[in-house]
Amino acid sequence: MDQIVNVEEFQELAKRALPKMYFDFYNGGAEDQHTLKENVEAFRRIMFRPRVLVDVSKIDMSTSILGYPISAPIMIAPTGNHKLAHPKGLFSLCFITCISGFGILWFDCLFMLGETATAKAAAACNTIMIVSYMSSCTIEEIASSCYAVRFLQLYVYKRRDVTAQMVKRAEKAGFKAIVLTVDVPKLGRREKDIKNKMIPPKLKNFEGAFSMEVRPNKGSGVEAFTSRAFDSSLSWKDIEWLRSITELPILIKGILTHEDALKAVEAGVDGIVVSNHGGRQLDYSPATITVLEEIVQAVGGSIPVFFDGGVRRGTDVFKALALGAKAVLIGRPIVYGLAAKGEDGVKKVIEMIKNEFEITMALSGCPTIADITRNHVRTENEKL
Ligand code: FNR
Repeated sequence: MDQIVNVEEFQELAKRALPKMYFDFYNGGAEDQHTLKENVEAFRRIMFRPRVLVDVSKIDMSTSILGYPISAPIMIAPTGNHKLAHPKGLFSLCFITCISGFGILWFDCLFMLGETATAKAAAACNTIMIVSYMSSCTIEEIASSCYAVRFLQLYVYKRRDVTAQMVKRAEKAGFKAIVLTVDVPKLGRREKDIKNKMIPPKLKNFEGAFSMEVRPNKGSGVEAFTSRAFDSSLSWKDIEWLRSITELPILIKGILTHEDALKAVEAGVDGIVVSNHGGRQLDYSPATITVLEEIVQAVGGSIPVFFDGGVRRGTDVFKALALGAKAVLIGRPIVYGLAAKGEDGVKKVIEMIKNEFEITMALSGCPTIADITRNHVRTENEKL
């Protein structure tokens, strides 16, 4: 583990650890994967304006999100199906197949992996995990596995009763906010999943609610499930519906324009996440870091603006904060860590990015988060 020094190396290890179908599922994006690449590349075009001779003998990265203190402005983005990424989970699957008569008890113990490992890492790193609606462990299993603060990411199913019930379960299990993802009225065309005929695992959260049947050899099983289950008629008026069924704070994830940011404020949500779903939905939507500032300016501080897409380094975290984000979410790097080294891998990914961020703060002359300003970065459009 000591030999791994950055997220790119974890990505390589994950590639070696996972069957091609699963690595492609985690790593891939939509169509030409232009947005996927741009999310990372656009960060490279932003440079620093570091300030010197500032006392940085103590660096304080801590912040608070919706009133919950965390060690650094880095949270875990919702990504589905963590059991597919967990090496022990894969091992257990083979093991259980071999000893199928051995008993249900073992079966259950061995399968307490996936998101429960990620959640434990979140707790150890003192950060917030946003649990995906498509998690492979139930939200109750995740809640009982650790004391990390958890938000629940939500999709809205055609079966509204199933979604409403999930919100109630999240409240009961101690989740602290709902993150409504709004950029999946239809699934983006992920060509690798189509070619691999990607078969998603059954979602334990929704067992019995509707058919989880997959059609092997008929393209992407993820796409088949999404078009069967997701409500593509979702619109702004449904924020009212969501508000009517929960007292929890609501964040909207998937905003890319100042127009929609203003609509979100009008709709009375408690925060937004600037996101293009990690380049997995509409290809040629802009790299998120290039639209962050427009959205922050439109919102004018009325609600917090969170950010995701392409964060691979502590320098990226700093750049997003300088352009106005309250905190960032990281998606793929977490899954790479989980696939490469399980819970310890996730911890190492978070700690590594935190460490890079700490050094960036010191070298930019910013001892606290409040010291990070717009003047600390120069975007490609700005003259020297
Ligand atoms: C995602 N993302 C996602 N978003 C969401 O709201 N619900 C979900 O279930 C998922 N599932 C998911 C699976 C996988 C494998 C990936 C890579 C992504 C999108 C995710 O929350 C986030 O927006 C992006 O991953 C951020 O980009 P990076 O950090 O991966 O570059």
